[in-house]
Amino acid sequence: MSRTVIRGGLVVTAAEETAADVLVEDGKVAALAASGSECARGWTADRTIDATGKYVIPGGVDGHTHMEMPFGGTFASDTFETGTRAAAWGGTTTIVDFAVQSQGHALREGLDAWHLKASGNCAIDYGFHMILSDVNDSSLKEMDLLVDEGVTSFKLFMAYPGVFYSDDGKILRAMQRASVNGGLIMMHAENGIAIDVLVEQALAEGRTDPRHHGEVRKALLESEATHRAIQLARVAGAPLYVVHVSAKEAVAELARARDLGLPVFGETCPQYLFLSADNLAEPGFEGAKYVCSTPLRPVEHQAALWRGLRTGDLQVVSTDHCPFCFTGQKELGRGDFSKIPNGMPGVEHRMDLLHQAVVDGRISRRRWIEIACATPARMFGLYPRKGTIAPGADADIVVYDPRAQQTLSAATHHMNVDYSAYEGKRVTGQVETVLSRGVPVIDRREYTGRAGHGRFLTRETCQYLI
Ligand code: URP
Ligand code: ZN
Ligand code: ZN
Repeated sequence: MSRTVIRGGLVVTAAEETAADVLVEDGKVAALAASGSECARGWTADRTIDATGKYVIPGGVDGHTHMEMPFGGTFASDTFETGTRAAAWGGTTTIVDFAVQSQGHALREGLDAWHLKASGNCAIDYGFHMILSDVNDSSLKEMDLLVDEGVTSFKLFMAYPGVFYSDDGKILRAMQRASVNGGLIMMHAENGIAIDVLVEQALAEGRTDPRHHGEVRKALLESEATHRAIQLARVAGAPLYVVHVSAKEAVAELARARDLGLPVFGETCPQYLFLSADNLAEPGFEGAKYVCSTPLRPVEHQAALWRGLRTGDLQVVSTDHCPFCFTGQKELGRGDFSKIPNGMPGVEHRMDLLHQAVVDGRISRRRWIEIACATPARMFGLYPRKGTIAPGADADIVVYDPRAQQTLSAATHHMNVDYSAYEGKRVTGQVETVLSRGVPVIDRREYTGRAGHGRFLTRETCQYLI
């Protein structure tokens, strides 16, 4: 039996903050006891981690990543190996990635392909959601099988006609099925049919720069789709999780639904909290670095997102990590913003950026852990195995130095992408040591993990409703 003790830190979970020592046995949290108490002093261990002056927090749970995702004729540049290693560097110990069903193919084919990409390559534990690109009788039946296999959430797109898009009828059918099999429908809520008209008009008028990506993907077309998704979910009697919310009008739709007591949930991402349409308008072709969908919004939307995170109208911050290199990938859209692959890197920086929000007084320490660890674990059926530090939980634990200073940069990050969306940004706080199931994957800022340590997680259905 292997035993590790973490001594002297402030243990922060979504529920409480306590000066406690943590005993880890065979990859699980075995016990917590007041630091220096007789009980804690009696613990013997193979390894002792001194966390004096540090936070001891659950490993981050990033519920929205796209490793090696095919998009716009290319693939997201992080593999499961490079992307999960970068996640570990940033204190994230679980990702839930999106397996993709291609049109005309079975869910099973997509899921098998994602297992092949991930298996034996991950530094941290991982689960899968399934992207439904082709809702039909057969894929609806397959949803039930996937739920039984621990793939308990399904993403649908109201955007990207001809690629991932589902019309309202298909969405309703998938929601009806989910209301029976317990799956959670995750929605990319943008009116893609209307957006495509505006894209065509913009290009015809010579408005081809990256900033027009943000201008045609209007906030009203996000809020309209969010409203429609909520009504369809109500009709189906299914819960709904809206991904990558960026528009203040969409937050208002979620708040209204939640005020009615509906099981409607919202996720936002660091890029919408810290970046804006000003980045999309950076000179030359620099704005391409910030092309993602939903798009970055004018800066005034940020206040509504922070407010939503404080009031609980938004529950989760995930990264939507979907990196494309500037050279050779983002450049595919020079002269035509609609050809810029959509997505941004971020899996490494979520915990730090949200800690910066704690430092800035935007959210509390416990809310930081709630939105980045505990709630995504609950939402995606992983709690309390993941997302907390409690007896019986996996020992996915981060020793976090709240006073360390760092500068985010492509020169020092570990993601396989040639730029940083946060180049030069100073943040306070840094990961020091990371345990994944009790095994150090980052040890005092050295990588000690290995590809293949990470295991596939079969997930329960959404626990947030209970
Ligand atoms: O631009 C984005 N978000 N790319 C990834 C795919 C998606 O819609 O989440
Ligand atoms: Zn999406
Ligand atoms: Zn995404």
